[in-house]
Amino acid sequence: MTRRGLYDNLAGDEQGGSVTRTPASPLRDRIAFVTGATGGIGAASAAALARDGAQVVLADLDADAGGRLVEQLGGAAHATFLRVDVTDPASVDGAVDEVVRRFGRLDIAHNNAGVQFAETLLADTPLEQWDRIIATNLSGVFYSMRAEIVAMRAAGGGSIVNTGSVLSVRAMKLHGAYTAAKHGVIGLTKAAALEYSADGIRVNAVLPGVIDTPMVAHLAATLPGYLEEVTSGHPIGRIGTPAEIAEAVVWLASDAASFVTGASLEADGGFLVA
Ligand SMILES: NC(=O)c1ccc[n+]([C@@H]2O[C@H](COP(=O)([O-])OP(=O)(O)OC[C@H]3O[C@@H](n4cnc5c(N)ncnc54)[C@H](O)[C@@H]3O)[C@@H](O)[C@H]2O)c1
Repeated sequence: MTRRGLYDNLAGDEQGGSVTRTPASPLRDRIAFVTGATGGIGAASAAALARDGAQVVLADLDADAGGRLVEQLGGAAHATFLRVDVTDPASVDGAVDEVVRRFGRLDIAHNNAGVQFAETLLADTPLEQWDRIIATNLSGVFYSMRAEIVAMRAAGGGSIVNTGSVLSVRAMKLHGAYTAAKHGVIGLTKAAALEYSADGIRVNAVLPGVIDTPMVAHLAATLPGYLEEVTSGHPIGRIGTPAEIAEAVVWLASDAASFVTGASLEADGGFLVA
């Protein structure tokens, strides 16, 4: 399990880590904020947003990886890192304030930070594990949206994409807390779409199938047979790449999706139709 393919969708000189923008770059001059930005899906989303012209603010707990990713994306002209803990509303508020202070506004947010563990049956789930999953995967999205909506209303609109999961609409044994949190992400997405469409803010979710990221590598290492079992659940015959999710995120974030709000876009190799 590697991060190969992460930057497959980047235009420009990958060797030099630079990003080539053209006058036609659809997200030119947009300010984008990505949480969980140094992980598999977040890094690919940040790269695709930068490729399409956005100035990207990378938010994550991992400052070392954040610094490396800024360099890979071509430095401060394209990307900035802020250390953020999405389970702490003060940390999120401070980061979004900092984005507005540095760049003047916020146009795009990808709320993507998340954790997943090898769980237990629901009744055996340790309370600390439940608390951590809900705090990161559900409350973290709420804290992020709360701050982003204030900034986007001030800017006259914006686009928010939340990372859900196929487990936003289906359950999987031994993943009860994660399933509950990801179902909640769809509820938050719909509620915000309803309340803020009139302010020019679109809010959507992307629902990835199983994607080749460090999160899945960890599950594969701790749950025997996990990878074979989940791969067989994808009619397309394989798990996905982070770049494939990033393209869905960029589309939802862009003006190409101008009539799309409150939606959940399945990018899952057919997992949910099987
Ligand atoms: N990989 C998959 O198969 C898959 C499938 C469906 C949904 N998702 C979701 O996609 C998102 C990204 O997952 P990934 O597979 O890229 O995982 P990953 O582990 O590679 O990345 C997750 C990132 O979130 C960061 N993070 C964790 N807790 C944080 C916190 N409190 N504050 C700030 N950052 C924090 C981590 O440092 C990491 O960089 C998650 O929400 C996950 O639930 C993943």
